[in-house]
Amino acid sequence: MFLFLFVLTSIIPIWGIDGKNEGKALYESKCGRCHDLYSPKVFSGSEWEMKVREMAPLSGLTRENESKVTEYLKSNAGNEKKNSGNSFIIGGYLYTEYFNNQSSTNTFDAHYLSITLSGKVHKKVTFYAEFELEHGGGSLNPPFVEEAYLDFWFNRNTGIKIGAILTPFNKFDDFHGPLQNRLISRPEMSKEIGVSAWKDVGVNLHGNLIVTKNFYLNYDLYLVNGLGSGSRFRKSRQYKDNNNLLSKGIRVSGIFSDRLEAGVSYYSGPWDDEGLLDLNMYGFHLLGSIGDLQFYGEYSKADSENTNVYPEGKAEGYFIQGSYLMNTYLRTTIRYGTLDYLDTAEDIGRSFTDIDKRVLALGLSLNLNSSVVFKIEYDFVMEGERSASKENNILAFQAAVSF
Ligand code: HEC
Repeated sequence: MFLFLFVLTSIIPIWGIDGKNEGKALYESKCGRCHDLYSPKVFSGSEWEMKVREMAPLSGLTRENESKVTEYLKSNAGNEKKNSGNSFIIGGYLYTEYFNNQSSTNTFDAHYLSITLSGKVHKKVTFYAEFELEHGGGSLNPPFVEEAYLDFWFNRNTGIKIGAILTPFNKFDDFHGPLQNRLISRPEMSKEIGVSAWKDVGVNLHGNLIVTKNFYLNYDLYLVNGLGSGSRFRKSRQYKDNNNLLSKGIRVSGIFSDRLEAGVSYYSGPWDDEGLLDLNMYGFHLLGSIGDLQFYGEYSKADSENTNVYPEGKAEGYFIQGSYLMNTYLRTTIRYGTLDYLDTAEDIGRSFTDIDKRVLALGLSLNLNSSVVFKIEYDFVMEGERSASKENNILAFQAAVSF
């Protein structure tokens, strides 16, 4: 009898979820998949409306569930700010890092200040802009635009971004900010293939397809100026077009039960000034969670054509990452990543590139709330067989706030 009552009382809360609690439960399951949850107090009601507009298509929310999430957030939101007639939000983040590396000097770095402006200017048009000041600014590092686009919405789940965007290739670029990246360092692979902070100018059709209650798709189809003829991929990011030809790409991810995301990416386009030599990139990502354990992995490969005299440049790498939330504040993260990049071409702006690296990174982070994080990390850096092995381990600290 007691057992029966016990079972019954533990089931009732599931049946008994009313409208309000359902909004909260949906917020937690649908919105907590990619980043830690923001406290509803952080934004005012009208700001939440705009944020949900931007984020709902990533979350596979039906129209009805989207209103429940919005209702929950609005009824627990912070106060409306003065001038809240404006339909934009000013935000951003700031972070400072310290790196200690045996083969270079120890550095303190006022690494990064980023200001974001986002909002809604019309029923069907939203915008997002991010300005950055890196390494303390000065004449060597003038402020620049990281992203600046408007998003035209055909319907609730389909939009087209026009302007300077982050190129959708694999996933890490979406998470390179200090509050999304669980570690301080970025994976070696993501420094070159599908470079992190890879902004480009073009158009990006993006959307969300809800297939069943437990399965939805997110997709991006884009046309951009493409990478140019820099010495290697990382140096090939450009704002201007070097060859008047566009590059194209696609990223499709399937999301199962709000817990597991698996996706593929493809990018292709000419990268030399003449527009004759193609660069092709392939990617695969996996992202998921089991209780408080999050796992994340990516694989990338790039083949870049060179002029006749040189063989094709080749780059390949992967990383796997596990991150465990030990209690409300403390998180440990481990990541193992590789990059193997060999391109012997020394013409058309290219330079001889030979990187063969494996890095094991261990990190601990203290999240005071959804806007403040302190991190410490130790990296075991192993140079591959091609390079002379040297001691290159890294100790790093980071403090970051978002506002
Ligand atoms: C597919 C992954 C993903 C899902 C699902 C997702 N987000 Fe996000 N969210 C991001 C990324 C990436 C950023 C940081 C970049 C940005 O602001 O566009 C972000 C940023 C945010 C921010 C901070 C914006 C700022 O201005 O500081 C808020 C608030 C937010 N998300 C709310 C939500 C809500 C609410 C949901 C559910 C409806 C949601 N997110 C679902 C990926 C996701």
